Amino acid sequence: MQPISRRGILLLGGLGVTATAVGGAGLLWGSSVRTPPGPRFAEPTELASKAGRLRVRLTAAGGRVRLGDRDASALTFNGGIPGPTLRLKAGDRLSVRLRNELQDPTNLHVHGLHVSPEGSGDNPFVMVEPGDAFDYEYELPADHPPGVYWYHPHHHGTVADQVAGGLFGAIIVEDPEPIEAARERLLLISDVSLDGSGQIADVSPMARMLGREGDLVLVNGRLTPRLAARPGERERWRVVNACVSRYLRLRLDGARLQLIGIDSGRFSSPRDVDEVLLAPGNRADLLVTTTAGTASLRAAPYDRGDAGGMMGGGSPGTLSGAVLLATLAVEGEAVPALPEVSAQPAPRDLRSAPVTARRELTFAMGMGAGMGGGMMSFTINGREFDAGRVDTTAAEGSVEEWTLVNDSPMDHPVHLHVWPMQLIEVNGREVEAVPRQDVVNVPARSRVRVRIAFDRFTGRSVYHCHILDHEDNGMMGVIEVR
Ligand code: C2O
Ligand code: CU
Ligand code: CU
Repeated sequence: MQPISRRGILLLGGLGVTATAVGGAGLLWGSSVRTPPGPRFAEPTELASKAGRLRVRLTAAGGRVRLGDRDASALTFNGGIPGPTLRLKAGDRLSVRLRNELQDPTNLHVHGLHVSPEGSGDNPFVMVEPGDAFDYEYELPADHPPGVYWYHPHHHGTVADQVAGGLFGAIIVEDPEPIEAARERLLLISDVSLDGSGQIADVSPMARMLGREGDLVLVNGRLTPRLAARPGERERWRVVNACVSRYLRLRLDGARLQLIGIDSGRFSSPRDVDEVLLAPGNRADLLVTTTAGTASLRAAPYDRGDAGGMMGGGSPGTLSGAVLLATLAVEGEAVPALPEVSAQPAPRDLRSAPVTARRELTFAMGMGAGMGGGMMSFTINGREFDAGRVDTTAAEGSVEEWTLVNDSPMDHPVHLHVWPMQLIEVNGREVEAVPRQDVVNVPARSRVRVRIAFDRFTGRSVYHCHILDHEDNGMMGVIEVR
């Protein structure tokens, strides 16, 4: 434990950016790491809209796949891990026929998209039974923010198992004005543990409390893939943290790293960064400018807290450990530099908006009376999730300020569907103007203030901890906008 460096991360953590001054982690990285002979980098199949329309069929089913260097029995959309990438433009209409060939109920959520939560839209209350199908229809507003989003099942109680099993894929909403780059890459990062026969390993009750982390950390289903580029090239990287509980404190040693934005939010111009912290569910939109040699994409260790003695006898920690994710071999003739990226449009700054309601949401872990005792309860304002109850009612068109209070000894990445959050304050300290995010990390024993514009849509949806084991354990609430 390094309390000072941890604090440094926390202060900036909500922003998703940390400065070099954080230190400490530097010691872990030798400067002469040999490039491992990983597999070639590969991306999922891409399905792109044409003339404002994309129709896809997604079949969720068990199957044999290659995961990292193992043959595995896992869960797939259309036979792959990740599922196909859906490429859209603002204003498009997306139709998805979801077919459930799993043993359990499932459904589909389009994480981060600003679309209606009602009916056959992004409705987390839909349930698709095994053998059944459901037709989803999503209409992206004409001014939908560009960026990287993702889809995954959202059937309460099995979300963590289904996402860890392999059910996730990316959604890209293209830029109205393209950002110039030699190439674009998508990196969906997931983690899973397999047993000796290649089945998804059983998850202990303890791991379900703390939030499971898998021992294979994969990029598009591959273990430490190798990318290649020429010196001086600028690449666009879109990174999705699709892990159930693992935090990714991303570092790219040996190349220039710039952050365009997090989730649906954008900075007015790309920022040079040493690190980007992605909580589960977060995405980073990055520019990578190469120099000759080998660059390594790594996750530095991140301490997300512990059970604070609540599990009786000792309190196991939850360290998202250091991992090498991918390598980038840069060689050949250098290419001339591309012009700077032009200024990105900024959304309305909610700090100056009139606030119509203020709420406090307290995320807590306690000893549960239920579940045979000895298990923790995961609550928001003292209550576990109940799909039949509305916890929060907001008026369409209003701006609310929410104080997210984390009373527990672990971090909770708080996620709200449909309406993005603007981070205002972390532990009483105002943050610089930042883009909107749909997952905001609330560090252990901290308070985070956000503002939300409940624009455009009405209906029922949810907010929850995006450590999906915590969500399945009840740390989720229902919001109705009307
Ligand atoms: Cu990515 Cu409600 O989830
Ligand atoms: Cu979501
Ligand atoms: Cu949590």
